[in-house]
Amino acid sequence: MIKAANAASVGLVPTMGALHEGHMSLVKRAVAENDLVVASVFVNPTQFNDKDDLARYPRTPEADIEMLQDAGCNIVFMPDVEEMYPEEDTRVFDFGALGNVMEGRFRPGHFNGVAQIVSKLSYAVEPDNAYFGEKDFQQVAIIKAMVKQLDLKVRIIPCPIVREKSGLAKSSRNMLLTDTQREKAVLISKTLAASVAMAASKPVNEVHDWVVGQFASDPEFKIDYYDIVDGDSLQSVSDWNDSDYIVGCIAVYCGKIRLIDNIHYKG
Ligand code: PAF
Repeated sequence: MIKAANAASVGLVPTMGALHEGHMSLVKRAVAENDLVVASVFVNPTQFNDKDDLARYPRTPEADIEMLQDAGCNIVFMPDVEEMYPEEDTRVFDFGALGNVMEGRFRPGHFNGVAQIVSKLSYAVEPDNAYFGEKDFQQVAIIKAMVKQLDLKVRIIPCPIVREKSGLAKSSRNMLLTDTQREKAVLISKTLAASVAMAASKPVNEVHDWVVGQFASDPEFKIDYYDIVDGDSLQSVSDWNDSDYIVGCIAVYCGKIRLIDNIHYKG
């Protein structure tokens, strides 16, 4: 396993590979802010609650290595499953209300697996800083909570969503979309952006229902959830005055591909 102990500051960028510009923005920031950067590429089986999703998850190891090298990443860590899980990880994390909503509700066990792998990587690399994309808004909150629970010394650095020209949030899963689905999926970011303007004059429930309604007429889409939440507690708000930090988080299937995105209403 890696020990990067001699570097003055170590940055960790955990990924599941199939790298795109979103990941590279994390790597570039890590390179700018640390003496040594480690990127991990590991499709973590314990965070998949759906076997088909795990099987279909894109894998592009050669291209990933090349992109990481070009971006100035010092160490690429690409373990196999036996290396990360020589025996079953039986740890069960409890993130309370943070973990029960949204992704936690629709993907039971997902965040337990994320906490397992991110904690293992943190123990192995002992980073000063670790970089995560805000597209996975709830994941960032869960990882921050895990760092507190385990008393890890790493600073968690959330990085802004990177979008395609069309507005579609960059995701490794985008490469699984057909051309038509990719065009259709733009509706997600368009709808979220339009809902921000609407929020100036409409109550939370109307904005919520309008967003959900945008996906109703096309059978290609199936919404898991659209939740308008306090950005810290991740609990739903019912009034725009409930919090100074309000975020809308969506998970929607486009065909078989599950996409997530979010938008800040306040804060
Ligand atoms: O966001 C991801 O790609 C994964 O959940 C992570 C943080 C690399 C853990 O496997």
